[in-house]
Amino acid sequence: MLNKLKEIEDSGINEINGSSSTAALEELRIKYLGKKGALTSILRQLGTLSSEERPKVGAAANVVRQKIEARIEQKLAELESLQLDLKLKTEKVDVTLPGCKKEIGHLHPLRSTENRMIEIFVSMGFDLVEGPEVESVYNNFDALNAPADHPSRDETDTFYISDSVVLRTQTSPVQIRAMQTRKPPIRIISPGKVYRCDSPDATHSPVFHQLEGLVIDKHITLGDLKGTLDLFAQSMFGEGTRTRLRPHNFPFTEPSVEVDFSCFACGGKGCKLCKGEGWIEMLGAGMVHPNVLAGCGIDPDEYTGFAFGVGIERTAMRKYNINDLRLFYENDVRFIGQF
Ligand code: PHE
Repeated sequence: MLNKLKEIEDSGINEINGSSSTAALEELRIKYLGKKGALTSILRQLGTLSSEERPKVGAAANVVRQKIEARIEQKLAELESLQLDLKLKTEKVDVTLPGCKKEIGHLHPLRSTENRMIEIFVSMGFDLVEGPEVESVYNNFDALNAPADHPSRDETDTFYISDSVVLRTQTSPVQIRAMQTRKPPIRIISPGKVYRCDSPDATHSPVFHQLEGLVIDKHITLGDLKGTLDLFAQSMFGEGTRTRLRPHNFPFTEPSVEVDFSCFACGGKGCKLCKGEGWIEMLGAGMVHPNVLAGCGIDPDEYTGFAFGVGIERTAMRKYNINDLRLFYENDVRFIGQF
């Protein structure tokens, strides 16, 4: 029986040495030391031995058990450390490799220009309001005093959704919405998209952005308009910027003006940017037409007001000296990334 024990020990140690996984080791533990294991069956037979042999074989069996147990523990530790080595090797991080830089985005130049414009007017006390891009013909044209035969109503100029609904061609219908829902004094700005049937080129796009401004109160004059736009021009383009009003015509303002800013590049002397003029055309404006006030239920004998509409693309183009409108919409990061 001692020979048998020796056999168990040898084959056990052999098998343990040759095993390559912790699961295999667990199987061996059961095979040799388990309830139905090889060693247990020897111990069961102890009763058949003489009283002299019994303690010897018993003691020898215990030694074998301890050896096998110890070898299993040792092998387990070896396998675990091998696994750890492998893990360390395959998951190695080379801290000397160059890092991968995360690009941090920023606002589109049109959006940041719009935000700056909003900031300037809000600081003067204007409320920021929004209006829909799909607008009634009434708000976009009729209420703005546009005659029935005004060329801008033409289907070649305006996107019609139906006979009475258009994609707004200007932010001016927000004036109507403001006057219908607010009581004077009114002081609002409203930026947003506008739509016109234009083919894209360096200065035209079927979709572009405007910022509308409207002030209605008692005793508002063209001087207030000029003062407001002076402050806007200086805040946007620098202290020395001056404004100039030229007569113009819009159906919803009387008088109507086009507003030039002194050239940002030459300060008014005349240069390539302003084509020698010293002035750059920036926006349309005027005193709100009495018909428009009356149509919105505001008494033109009691109240006057001014309105202006300024292109956001145009402002950004002037600010950053960009000569092609299409660059704003192409989303080429080489362009956008410069701002
Ligand atoms: N709505 C005009 C345009 O799109 C601009 C404007 C706004 C003119 C307000 C006068 C007053 O050209």
